[in-house]
Amino acid sequence: MEYPHQPVLVQEVLDSLLTARDGLYVDGTVGTGGHSEKIAMLTGRKARLICLDRDPEAIDISRQRLASFKDKVTFVQQSYAALDRVLSDLSIERVHGILLDLGVSSYQLEHCGRGFSFNRDEPLDMRMDPRDKVTARQLVNRLGRKELEDIIRRYGEERRARRIAKAIENTRKRGPISSSVQLANLIRSIVPRSHGPGAKDPATRTFQALRIAVNRELENLESFLSKCPELLLKGGRLVILTYHSLEDRMVKKAMVDWERGCTCPPDLPVCKCGKAPLFRRLSRKGIKPSREEIEKNPRARSAMLRAAERI
Ligand SMILES: C[S@@+](CC[C@H](N)C(=O)[O-])C[C@H]1O[C@@H](n2cnc3c(N)ncnc32)[C@H](O)[C@@H]1O
Repeated sequence: MEYPHQPVLVQEVLDSLLTARDGLYVDGTVGTGGHSEKIAMLTGRKARLICLDRDPEAIDISRQRLASFKDKVTFVQQSYAALDRVLSDLSIERVHGILLDLGVSSYQLEHCGRGFSFNRDEPLDMRMDPRDKVTARQLVNRLGRKELEDIIRRYGEERRARRIAKAIENTRKRGPISSSVQLANLIRSIVPRSHGPGAKDPATRTFQALRIAVNRELENLESFLSKCPELLLKGGRLVILTYHSLEDRMVKKAMVDWERGCTCPPDLPVCKCGKAPLFRRLSRKGIKPSREEIEKNPRARSAMLRAAERI
């Protein structure tokens, strides 16, 4: 079977993540299983890989893809923010490595029919987990103009958030906005298309913002980061791939804080908080895909890999 999602920075992920041949690993965002397949191939018979995704279709696809490794792989449809509960249900205290590859997969954009893409005429849903209550359609049609504007500006980093929110408010007076193409065309009618290399569709940022809001992506990341130090063994590795500056800032800040340990004000002559460093960063600047990788896989262009080792 062909898998539409091309995994990003695969070799760099494996180099950063794997420290024990028969270790316990978590892929918190298995998607269509590209990274997990490699992890399963490169680890020993006694290794164990726990794969999570909020999206039941991602779990089904990966389960098939990794069928030949079924003795060492466990699938759980759950948010990585609940990894502490998932591990405790499996009677596991700590693991050797955790991978998060954030955002949306090409499968979700191109095949799942839930309105993630502005290029497809689909119901405006955008839930990764269909058990969640709030859809993009509800946000677009029910939120106040100011709330919509804030979401589009904050999560989409969209300069024209106010104009877009206003246009949505005016349009929905005549009837609900219910499909992805209807929303995309509305945005395209008021935001000029940019030209030149790397130019994006005017709807890109608003779609990204709605997806982040519907799936509470930043809240999940925050919650995971607060629990993560308790979930890794000494020498265990955390590897996170982000595609959005807000997420990258959160990951970088958490890793810098863990590495620093002490939280006393810098002018205090001696440490009073007594907090010891929890992690060592593997690379200060993070790792970006090469030009060759971006040429082969344009979705890699905004990727940033950050990794740290539990000490
Ligand atoms: C970029 S894709 C991962 C691709 C994967 N590494 C591969 O090689 O196929 C991101 C995946 O993360 C999932 N996801 C997003 N937020 C999640 C969360 N809080 N918990 C679990 N999975 C999540 C999405 O449903 C999507 O399948």
